[in-house]
Amino acid sequence: MGLMRSRSPLLWCLLLVAAQVTGATKRFRTTVTEDEQVQGFFGSWGSTKASGPEPASGPEPGDLAAAFTVPTLAGELSYQPGAVPGSLLIHAFTNKSGFLECLWSSESSLSSLVRDLPASTQVLFLSLDDSAVSDALWMREQLQRAAVHSKKEVLSRLHFSPVPVFALGNWIPNVLCYWGCFGFNCGFSQAVFTSKEWKMPVIIKRLDARYDWLTGRWGQRSYQLIDAGDGCHPTPIVAGAVAWVSEGNCSFFTKVQSMAKSNASGVLVYALPGNPIQDMNCVEDECYVQLGIPAAMVHLELAVEQAFRLGQKVNVSFQTTPSPSFFIGINQQGALSEMGSFLYPTFSFINWQAQWFDFYAALQLKLQNPAQVVPVFDKVQMQGDKGAVATVVLPLGLSHFDTLELDASLSCPGRRDSSCAPWDHTVQLFVCCNHLSPYCNIELGRWITTFHRGTGRWLTDVSPLIPLLDSNKCNFTMKTAPWAKPWVVSLNLRFSVSNQTGHRLETLRPFRAVPLYSGGTFDKNYNKRYQPIKFSVPSSSTKKVELFAVITGHGSDENGCGEFCVTSHHFLINAAFNNTLSFDSAGTALGCTQRVKDGAVPNEHGTWLYGRGGWCDGLQVDPWRIDITKQLDLSGLNTVIYFGLFDGKDPDPSQQPGYIIMQSFLIFYK
Ligand SMILES: *[C@@H]1O[C@H](CO)[C@@H](O)[C@H](O)[C@H]1NC(C)=O
Ligand SMILES: *[C@@H]1O[C@H](CO)[C@@H](O)[C@H](O)[C@H]1NC(C)=O
Ligand SMILES: *[C@@H]1O[C@H](CO)[C@@H](O)[C@H](O)[C@H]1NC(C)=O
Ligand SMILES: *[C@@H]1O[C@H](CO)[C@@H](O)[C@H](O)[C@H]1NC(C)=O
Ligand SMILES: *[C@@H]1O[C@H](CO)[C@@H](O)[C@H](O)[C@H]1NC(C)=O
Ligand SMILES: *[C@@H]1O[C@H](CO)[C@@H](O)[C@H](O)[C@H]1NC(C)=O
Ligand SMILES: *[C@@H]1O[C@H](CO)[C@@H](O)[C@H](O)[C@H]1NC(C)=O
Repeated sequence: MGLMRSRSPLLWCLLLVAAQVTGATKRFRTTVTEDEQVQGFFGSWGSTKASGPEPASGPEPGDLAAAFTVPTLAGELSYQPGAVPGSLLIHAFTNKSGFLECLWSSESSLSSLVRDLPASTQVLFLSLDDSAVSDALWMREQLQRAAVHSKKEVLSRLHFSPVPVFALGNWIPNVLCYWGCFGFNCGFSQAVFTSKEWKMPVIIKRLDARYDWLTGRWGQRSYQLIDAGDGCHPTPIVAGAVAWVSEGNCSFFTKVQSMAKSNASGVLVYALPGNPIQDMNCVEDECYVQLGIPAAMVHLELAVEQAFRLGQKVNVSFQTTPSPSFFIGINQQGALSEMGSFLYPTFSFINWQAQWFDFYAALQLKLQNPAQVVPVFDKVQMQGDKGAVATVVLPLGLSHFDTLELDASLSCPGRRDSSCAPWDHTVQLFVCCNHLSPYCNIELGRWITTFHRGTGRWLTDVSPLIPLLDSNKCNFTMKTAPWAKPWVVSLNLRFSVSNQTGHRLETLRPFRAVPLYSGGTFDKNYNKRYQPIKFSVPSSSTKKVELFAVITGHGSDENGCGEFCVTSHHFLINAAFNNTLSFDSAGTALGCTQRVKDGAVPNEHGTWLYGRGGWCDGLQVDPWRIDITKQLDLSGLNTVIYFGLFDGKDPDPSQQPGYIIMQSFLIFYK
């Protein structure tokens, strides 16, 4: 944590950061399955970090941030642990990155920050370069302009330092460099132009097209570069080469499609003079057309233009140079935190991380509510067929509690996200308190792991399942896909009374759980295997009957079912009451970003943003509960039947059917 005075800062920084950015194959929102045995998208990043011994110095994520004071355009920003009510995010800008240039030029990116930055959050903007004074003025101007039509209050929470990172003399440069940048849009992505007529290569920054649009990746080789005008029409001259095309006259999609049809190996779109680098993306139906070649945006390079004018040949290759981290966070508790992956250039990723800090602070408060805490796992490694296993003796006197919450967290073998398992898998907690009981090895909770982030912690109310704990000695097993890399799990059971002020007699307690249906392959026979179940309400003291279900859709048929298609799940009671759960946000581009405020871990190193069938990456699966007392004949016989639909109809996939994981019960309260 010492001062960094000597040596050129970036050089010093680069020594510490191992090269780790590699190409990655795309994960299609329509065709992807949850079958993560295939190591593709981001999968190769896990092992590249932390080669060699960890340096002895430097705070790690989770350590408390020390006090610091930084000069700003408005005076100074002084951070004292405990004195900042909310979270403080730190961003280090450099115009050497095409990604950061776009982040700071895109109107939608800038306006998302001034519009949606949570009220608890402050941001300190720094520059990595000698141009820090002009960078700070420019960043402030960009945000002031973006805030013209919104509340100005946000501007008072944004701080701009004219002192470059390498001259700060506090711990910030150390953390930025020591942590380095891990994940998508890290490092300096560059295009390298060479020509026989030049003594030196010309190296400029580039921004690759949106990660989930173009599947093609740049090879490790030199390509011929061919001028193709505006690239709006196919032309045979670019076959086998990288097409050099201007911005404008048609969409990015049309350019890449025309060049792909012309058998180009890739496309470089240059910005018209004075324009910034943009985030090349598809729009609506375009996104479903596979183009198969890579593309990137760069600035117009005069040396290239001149070579073409003179009829000289130019080659291009692609490289990524490691960079310091561009973002670090200090959460509400004063702990340093990684900010995860920014999948594309928008400040929304800052907002999501800040929302999650808010969620986490609220969770810390909830955990202080009175409860009888029964520890199950304390940082136990979960891996393989066995998972994490514990035998727990439940304390006496639990019978007056009517609330059971699972306080679960998933972290990684190391302290950095780079040590986390890369893929999203289902995690299930099973309990068995009596192996003769019908409740033995029934699922008590379900979560989905993150892509490569180790900060998730969730509180899930599973009170209706209290009857599953039908003896005082219980075995708990928490499992994920046996081939997944390890997670480190912690789990506490929290027993409490829902109405602290009310009379005990008034609180209803579940006394019986009757298992109903489970899921299965979501094909044309899905609904044929379900038969009506007849039941009567067990005792005259039953005060309430509830339907309880935990349902998630996985896999991917030609409609994206069940992960990315809208399925609906119906429990028809007495042939009259249609209780429906519908996964309306499945397949939407930003569905799971809506759940960050509920604890979905943001900025994961994968496609965490898309809405899914009843779940999000890095989140618990919420139990669905419906009070059906009024739908029942409390003294006679009742029936229930379940069916699951896609698009309001029986599923009928022509290939690779998906599947539904379901646990459902009738819960009786007295
Ligand atoms: C960033 O770099 C681009 C291209 O080199 C330049 O046009 C732009 O003015 C620079 N922006 C800032 C803020 O320096
Ligand atoms: C330029 O690229 C072509 C096509 O990939 C390759 O054959 C050639 O060797 C490259 N030239 C140089 C000087 O790298
Ligand atoms: C864009 O289209 C106009 C009109 O066809 C043409 O004059 C211009 O050269 C095109 N731009 C480029 C960069 O090719
Ligand atoms: C692209 O390649 C295909 C297959 O090699 C060929 O049939 C087609 O004519 C080529 N198109 C152009 C525009 O060169
Ligand atoms: C719990 O696990 C232990 C050790 O594996 C086993 O001996 C015991 O039978 C299990 N109890 C139940 C109720 O499954
Ligand atoms: C708690 O119990 C009191 C007294 O029985 C009752 O008036 C109140 O509505 C209950 N509150 C909740 C949130 O159930
Ligand atoms: C239940 O509701 C769903 C969707 O609203 C509908 O498709 C289905 O036909 C209904 N079923 C019955 C038996 O009413």
